[in-house]
This record gives sequence, structure tokens and C-alpha cells, in this order.
Amino acid sequence: MLFGVYGQQELAIIPQPKEVSLGTEFFALNNKTRILLAPGEGLEFEAEFLQDRLDNISGYHLPISSKTKNAKGAIRLVFRKGNHPDEYRIQIDVTGIEISAVSAEGIFHGIQSLLQVVHERLNEENESDGVLLPYLDVYDFPNFQWRGMHLDVCRHFFTTEEVKRYIDYLALYKMNTFHWHLTEDQGWRIEIKKYPHLTEIGAWRAGTMVGPHSNHEFDTIRYGGYYTQEQIKEVVAYAAKRHITVVPEIEMPGHALAALAAYPNLSCTGDSFEVGQQWGVYEDVYCAGNDQVFEFLEDVLEEVVALFPGDFVHIGGDECPKTRWESCAKCQQRMVDEGLKDEHELQSYFIQRMERYLNGKGKKIIGWDEILEGGLAPNAAVMSWRGEAGGIAAAGAEHEVVMSPGSPCYFDHYQHAEKENEPLAIGGLNTLEAVYNYHPVPSELTEEKHRFILGAQANVWTEYMLSFAHVEYMALPRMAALAEVLWTNPKQKDYTNFVKRLETQVHLLDYWNTNYCTHFLHETR
Ligand code: ACM
Ligand code: ZN
Repeated sequence: MLFGVYGQQELAIIPQPKEVSLGTEFFALNNKTRILLAPGEGLEFEAEFLQDRLDNISGYHLPISSKTKNAKGAIRLVFRKGNHPDEYRIQIDVTGIEISAVSAEGIFHGIQSLLQVVHERLNEENESDGVLLPYLDVYDFPNFQWRGMHLDVCRHFFTTEEVKRYIDYLALYKMNTFHWHLTEDQGWRIEIKKYPHLTEIGAWRAGTMVGPHSNHEFDTIRYGGYYTQEQIKEVVAYAAKRHITVVPEIEMPGHALAALAAYPNLSCTGDSFEVGQQWGVYEDVYCAGNDQVFEFLEDVLEEVVALFPGDFVHIGGDECPKTRWESCAKCQQRMVDEGLKDEHELQSYFIQRMERYLNGKGKKIIGWDEILEGGLAPNAAVMSWRGEAGGIAAAGAEHEVVMSPGSPCYFDHYQHAEKENEPLAIGGLNTLEAVYNYHPVPSELTEEKHRFILGAQANVWTEYMLSFAHVEYMALPRMAALAEVLWTNPKQKDYTNFVKRLETQVHLLDYWNTNYCTHFLHETR
């Protein structure tokens, strides 16, 4: 038998491919193997990526060549026609290895699968021949188009190098959307040239809540950081090469205290504010009756859209208390002028006004499910976090939806029932198995609305994650489980089988010294 733990017809690829067939003979990958790419195909990055990762895991540094003469025994990266823009095929046979696809994205995903096969076979390395790869034919494409991971860089800040590492993890599991949560009560993290106080003042807090929320304890250490526009461009380009779209989130009208600390005139009261030190929700939000707020946000978004080439801008919209608006003369006047019956409709007015602006810039908006309250903006997509009800309502009304329900998509929750042995988390319990068994299309939705569910994503809020190593611990391997939710046919999913494949593939992360959670290693013992 070729593959003891997985059965004869399987490879330990995550996410599980659509179709795999295995032969009985082997191709030897070694120092003599070349990476071959036809000249002018535009796959130079993919070839270099493969070269670099193969070197990293196998120690073979393969030359890249465009001499297609004598292609036998090479790894060939080639374009061809196909049924899906993002499909790929890997064939290993007597002629060598061919990764073929319709797009560079498909080639890149094929490379990720090949690297996993190589990694799996490393322990079969034979001194004279090299790494023995079974003859195989893999044909594969994803089930969902939004395969997302979010990262909150506001509660705690992570360097561009750490953010790139996070993107590496997405790439490994063929995730394609990185939701970058850039503004919050506790810190504004993106340089905006027109409003320098946002980062001079708004990126820094004078202290931070420490320990469990209920202790109500704070340190007095100045904390902060931000990304320059040059750094943002660098991250966006890094992601794009890995076929990952970055969706920036600029929170409005709530979660805006850091911006109000920088520009108090944007609040209802005009008081002075400090950047938030406590986790939770603040009552001071952008004033919805003051046109300066809309000018400010349009200016900010003008700089933001120039940095992020993707279709979507996330405008937040969650957890906006209406307290200040209820007692603000400007907000109340706006409601009269616009014929709005309550503050929920005022929030809807706010979001719709920003949507018009962003649609005019060629962008679509996506917001947390509170943007349904008071009336959904005409073209908005909804990210359903308070369960799936918001997503079901939005898809029912033919709006695009990304499912991200707290359970099981909040990776800031505990992942193991023995919470006392785990690092402090916000609460909850989302086990690897619960993530694995998620399906983002609710049974309540009629068939013809299914197409509005773009996919799902997991959120990594970082109140209780003070280091990137802790982010890794919370995100991995749950990200691998979510990847399989979003890529693989539900009928092909099997948790026990997944865990066995994970046992092999998670060690790819060891080459990066990743601090992944190892609880699953005990599940099959
Ligand atoms: C959220 O977790 N407040 C979207
Ligand atoms: Zn107001």
C-alpha cells in the first residue's frame, strides 16, 4: 500500500482536491529536475515561488529554464483552456510533472498542492534517486469564491513582515481574501496623507487593558503603530502575487474613537477624546449630522481606494450605539431633513451615502450585518457575524453575502474545551472539528438564492493576542479546516481523514517556525 493512513487513492493535500487518481510507479525529483516555463507566459513569479519553497522543504535548488527542448523529466508550468478560470491539473508520469491551468492563479494553487505532495513524500527520499513522487493525476477547483481570513491589527499591531507571514498561511491553504481591519477605537493603523493626526495621535494609546475584561486592569505603556502607504502597497503587492485580494476595513460610523481623538470635530459633542484603552464598544461615534464627517471619510476613502485594487471596501457598520445621535442637534436635524424615522434609518443614511461615494469610485461596499438595520444600501454586500440570520435576509433580498458567524468562524474564541489550559481568550468555543463541519450555505435559503453566498471567512480579533505567535496559535490549524470548508465538495469531507492529512501537512509550517496549536495531534491517538 502506498499511503498507509489515507488509503491508496488519496494524497495528504489540504484542502482535499476534487479528483485524484494515483498510479503505481514513481517519478524521482532531484537535483537534475528543472522547472520549465515557456518564454513570455508571465509565470516567472510562480516558477520562482516553486523554486524557493522546494529548496526550503527538500534542499533541491532547481534551475528555472525556458528551453522547451528536451522537456522530459522537468516540472512544466503551462497554460491551457479549461472549464473554470481557477482550476488546475497536476499530472505526474514518465514525462515528468506538468501543472496546467487556465490562469496564473490556477498554476499557483497547483504549485501549493505539488509542494504538499513533495512534503508528504520526503520521508520516502531515496539517496540515489531523490524524492519519489507517485504518478498521479489531480484535477481541482474551488467551491467558493470568497475564501477569507480577517486580521485585526488595531487592538494589537503586527508588523508588515508578520502580515506577510499571515498571507503566506492563506496562500498555503488556497485562501484568496485577506480582510485587513485597519481602524478601531484603540488605534488607527493606516497613513492618510491629508489627515496626519490620524496616525500622529490616533495610532497611539496611553495604556491597554490587561488580563480578563472582568478584572478591569490597565497598564500605562504607550502602545501603537501604523502602516505607511508605501508599506500598505508592499503588502497588497505581496498578496496579489499570491493571488490574494486585500479588503481594507475602514470602520464607520462606530468604532471610531481613535479618529475622534485625532479630529474631535468629527464627533457629536466636540469633546476631546483619548484613543481607547478598554476593549468593547464606545458611545462616541462619527456625527451623522455634520457634513464635515462625510467630507473627511470621502477624503480618507479616496486615499484608501488608490491603495487597494480589489472590488470591495469594508465599511464596518457594526456596533454603533445611537446614544450620541439621540441627543445631538445636528443628527436630529439630519433626520428631519431626510425624513428618517429613527436612528437606525440615520445609520442607513450614513452607509448609503458612503456607498454612493464608493460606487462612484468603482468600488462595492461590504459591511457587518448591522447595515441591514434601517434599510440595506442598494448594492451592499453583507458580512454575517451575529449568526447567519443577517446573511440569510441579505441573500434572500439578492445581496451578496459572506458568512462569518461567531460560531464557528470567530478564531478569537477558545479552540479546546479545557479552557483553563489555554491562553486567555475572549470566550466561546470553536473547535477545529466545529470549523471543519461548517457549511456556509444555510438550509433556510432556497436554491436560487445560493449563488448570493460568496463564501465565508474567519475573523481574528486580537484583544487577547499580544504577539504574532499567539495569532498563529489561534489561526492555525483552524484556517486549514476553513479552507477545506470553502474549497472541497461537502460530500468529500471527512473530519477523521482531514486530521490525518493535517498531521502530515501541518509540518510544512515548521519550516516557518509557526506556533500552530497541536491539540489535534492527540485526536487520532
Ligand atoms: C464584530 O465582531 N463586531 C463584527
Ligand atoms: Zn451628531
